[in-house]
Amino acid sequence: MGCITDGRAVANILYKSLKRLEYRGYDSAGMATISSGTLYVKKDQGKIDEVNERLNFNDMPGSIGIAHTRWATHGAPSKVNAHPHTDCNNMLAVVHNGVIENFMELKRELLDLNHKFVSKTDTEVIAHLLEENLRKGESFFSAFVNTVKRLSGSYALAVVYVGEPEKILVAKQDMPILIGVGDGGMFVASDAAAFIEETNKAVILQNGEVAIITTKSYEIYRAKDGTRVTRSPIVLNWTVDMAEKQGFPHYTLKEIFEQSITLKSALRLQDAYVDLLTEFLDRGEKIFLLAAGTSYHACLAASYMFSKLARLTTYPVIASEFVDNYGHSIDINTVILAVSQSGETADVLNALEFARLRAATILGITNVVGSTLTRISRAYLLQNAGPEIGVAATKTFTSQLIVLAQLALRLAKKRGKIAQFEMDEFKDRLYEVPDIVSNIIEDVRASVQDLAKKYAKEKFFLFLGRGMSTATAFEGRLKVMELSYIPCIAYSAGESKHGPISIVEKDVPVFFICPKDDTRKAILGNIEEMKARGARIITIGSKDDRELMEISDDYIGMPDVHELLSPIVYVLPFQLLAYYLAVERGLDPDKPRNLAKSVTVL
Ligand code: G6P
Repeated sequence: MGCITDGRAVANILYKSLKRLEYRGYDSAGMATISSGTLYVKKDQGKIDEVNERLNFNDMPGSIGIAHTRWATHGAPSKVNAHPHTDCNNMLAVVHNGVIENFMELKRELLDLNHKFVSKTDTEVIAHLLEENLRKGESFFSAFVNTVKRLSGSYALAVVYVGEPEKILVAKQDMPILIGVGDGGMFVASDAAAFIEETNKAVILQNGEVAIITTKSYEIYRAKDGTRVTRSPIVLNWTVDMAEKQGFPHYTLKEIFEQSITLKSALRLQDAYVDLLTEFLDRGEKIFLLAAGTSYHACLAASYMFSKLARLTTYPVIASEFVDNYGHSIDINTVILAVSQSGETADVLNALEFARLRAATILGITNVVGSTLTRISRAYLLQNAGPEIGVAATKTFTSQLIVLAQLALRLAKKRGKIAQFEMDEFKDRLYEVPDIVSNIIEDVRASVQDLAKKYAKEKFFLFLGRGMSTATAFEGRLKVMELSYIPCIAYSAGESKHGPISIVEKDVPVFFICPKDDTRKAILGNIEEMKARGARIITIGSKDDRELMEISDDYIGMPDVHELLSPIVYVLPFQLLAYYLAVERGLDPDKPRNLAKSVTVL
């Protein structure tokens, strides 16, 4: 958040706006203002109100300032890691959302030039790089543009500088940032919720753009060649509540739509940590993938990936079953990869504590830096999905899958069990996923909404898939069941003849997941078995699979995607279906009854 006024103190405006952004992150908060040639900075760990109680943001002087509420990606939540970050001489301050991929390299360069770093964040390199460019005598704007050009990764940036205290500079790449155009003041924020009470006129920045914001004007340029961009504000007829959901009626839908961005963020892992986890996994004798709920389904998919790509056998286990089932055979040669978006699920932590006492190696994948899982893991990877507010996991599931896929690929390289071309092919397909996801959500939304209308009164659904798609079937079942309260069963399709088929009779709706992979032929057989008993067949399959289309009562066509990545894409119609079924049935999709986002009891 940033604000510049024609004289009014900004501290209180920034504080109120920051509160509106708290839903985006809340592990630490901070503010920087400039007054009479001095930069004032206050920041600390904790929620905004807690930090404010300790530090009192409101007495910060000045009519220009920036503020930030953090969701850690690099560096645990702490006072020094909180934003804003400053240069060596306290002349400028930076707030940043996103991940700077080349920060290690930039940091080394800046350390050689005697810059003093105080935090463990990637963001701090931006402050020092900008300082370095200013030292060369460049203007604030040109130093800023030259700084931005050196960054790779994602960023929404806002910067203030004592030397030119009448402007806020901003930049955008893959993270949202908007300018709010008010009377007597201008704003900048990562979403309109921050300033909607002050103004409803907003200018949306595009990737690769930088902007200069003063009390009365804004100028937008393309960073790479300095071309001026003209863009008029749009008028947002949003309430604060609508703005927090970016115009979507519920957080769950907003989070479903966000997935192309969160997947891109999850592709930005720090290589050193991926290598570390790979090393530990490769050394293990027995390897367990441990999780609960949706995260367990990510583990199920991961076991297929590890086996097919890296020829590594792993055991996906439901956390609450782990101690009874495997606990007593755990030893120093056991490696446990725990997957938990919150990093706080009691069943997971309980199993890990048991394993830790038996000298097993604990590894983690989580969305929350500073969570218990990050503290007890030997090494961990972050999902970088940002906070998820809808109780049912959506974007955190797909980001777990893409993190696991990268790990599987690195393991494949290390173990050298598959051909180079297969690895290259997988890597190429992996990087295509965010764009595929972005298109498919738009493409299938309307037809899934129609399906929800059609099937909203059903008493029961069956979900079937094979191979990788077993994980999709399980997760599809969970989403639909927890949001719509319609009882659901999921099986791997090969098992359907061993039991579930007995409940199939005329008009029972059965969902089949049928991508064009090695499972297709067998699934076609399973479809015929169900059809023969009168079931209604609803298939999620490849867009151009005519045969499948013909035997299905309802069909959702999907783009081609690598077999091992199919759950990331094929789960999307189920997430949407679950959402729209809840809406059709008059339920709150964000807060399904009896469920909690983070279950911290056994
Ligand atoms: C709860 C949530 C689920 C989640 C599960 C595991 O049951 O309602 O959405 O999948 O916990 O959570 P975790 O934070 O460990 O991934």
